[in-house]
Amino acid sequence: MSLGNDKFYITTPLYYVNDKPHVGTAYCTITADVLNRYHKLFGRETFFLTGVDEHGQKCQQAAQKRGLEPQAHCDDMALRFKEAWQELNIDYDLFFRTTDDYHKQGVQKSLQQLLDQGDIYSKDYSGWYCVSDEMFYPEKDLVDGKTPEGKEVIWIEEKNYFFKMSKYQQALIQHIEDHPDFIHPESRRNEVLGFLRQPLGDLSISRPKSRLSWGVEIPFDPEHVTYVWFDALLNYATAVGFQQPERQKDFAKWWPASFHLLGKDILTTHAVYWPTMLMALGVPPPKTLFAHGWILNKDQGKMSKSQGEVINPLDLKNLVGVDGLRYYLVRDIHLGNDAPISEELVVNRYNTDLANNMGNLYSRSSNLIDKYFAGVTPSLMDVGGHWGEDPSAVNLIELLQKTPELLRREVEAFSPSRALEHVVQLLNQANKYLEETAPWKMAKEDLPGAGRVLLLSLEVLRLSALLLYPVMPAKMEELLSRLGQSQEPKDWSRAKTFPAIAPSTPIQKGSPLFQRYQAS
Ligand code: MSP
Repeated sequence: MSLGNDKFYITTPLYYVNDKPHVGTAYCTITADVLNRYHKLFGRETFFLTGVDEHGQKCQQAAQKRGLEPQAHCDDMALRFKEAWQELNIDYDLFFRTTDDYHKQGVQKSLQQLLDQGDIYSKDYSGWYCVSDEMFYPEKDLVDGKTPEGKEVIWIEEKNYFFKMSKYQQALIQHIEDHPDFIHPESRRNEVLGFLRQPLGDLSISRPKSRLSWGVEIPFDPEHVTYVWFDALLNYATAVGFQQPERQKDFAKWWPASFHLLGKDILTTHAVYWPTMLMALGVPPPKTLFAHGWILNKDQGKMSKSQGEVINPLDLKNLVGVDGLRYYLVRDIHLGNDAPISEELVVNRYNTDLANNMGNLYSRSSNLIDKYFAGVTPSLMDVGGHWGEDPSAVNLIELLQKTPELLRREVEAFSPSRALEHVVQLLNQANKYLEETAPWKMAKEDLPGAGRVLLLSLEVLRLSALLLYPVMPAKMEELLSRLGQSQEPKDWSRAKTFPAIAPSTPIQKGSPLFQRYQAS
């Protein structure tokens, strides 16, 4: 796939503020954070955008329920999202709020431009509206008087402004067909193309203030506010300077976005509304939309507040730490698929891969370096000047040198779970090598031989820590520091360096890196 070599601009959806962060929204944000950190490691200049979607009926109702003014409710919820992301070590560049003035002005300018060029008209409209999804549903799509997902709809009759979305249907189909990387996974791309085989209607983009006052005012009709999706989608562009003449350079630098990560339930808005809006505005569509799956609850349904039980990501964090949770979400959920989550699954993965596989390799190697080499790495010269000719050492070195590229290829193919498998395999092979050579015995007869084995396993640990740094920044920072690498830059050239650990580097043995979790 062609990402280009220099810049990477990644986004999450803007989360509605009727709900606090839960493991579903945390999943998307953590995945985006991990991808962003990988691209940074690969040497790209990156920009990572997340935030909250504050307008619309859903938010207005949530504020009413709490007896708060919408803005006060939004301020409070925005803070909760920010706090949660901080606790989960999310390193975003901008936290977006749709109530920010520059964005509202960008929305109004866009509406005015579309009106001026004849792409907006008004008409009386009636239809079934779902507040939870903030969308109208055609009667034929309703199932027993509800949305296909079983949510309530209400009948609405009002004057609306419409965006001539239908005018851009052919151009959109052409774009999707010409750009295989525009929508991923492929099954979702086919779904969108299937949807586009039917004639596309125009998009209602306003709500009368008599029904909903909490929104961006329509610049040419003060009795109406902007439809929340039209407002929110524009965030991806206004965040980097769209419709702000003083920020033209920023916009030219970052647009088109490289990667919009979103849930499969909001694919139509992103793959149909958004690119047609952009085409009408004379702006190229983003490069890639990726629709991820759902985190499922016990009944295999989407975990969400409106569906009942939700897991608080911060509870799982208390169990296996932030990095244990981040690791589970990226390693066990293949991007694009639905997946369950439970304490048991998270703990099992943590014990197997982190406490046992990586943790054991580290504790064994550091203990033996402490015991036989006074806690510092011997130089290769002192232990024979070579790595040994036995096939397991040769194979392990070969794998070590191949792993960075194998990982990178998978990350660039939007498959971070497979990328991590390569590191797990490397760690497995290093543990096997340690088992086979048993340096704890060897040290007694062949100290240089044991030194070589330990040096190699430390090299594997160093590389693994660097390659897993985007997933577990805090723990891998700690591991790198215990391996005497805290001064080393986290860049791709270091991933390609072998051997990388200088002679006489102090190795700390310390407490277990990942304390094994015992179920109570
Ligand atoms: N505000 C809109 C998005 C506007 S983007 C311009 C919205 N917000 S949302 O809060 O309802 O959902 C945001 C994202 O969270 C969606 O991508 C949705 O798929 C994701 N998730 C919500 N629950 C989820 C799970 N249980 N599992 C995985 N993702 C889930 O839609």
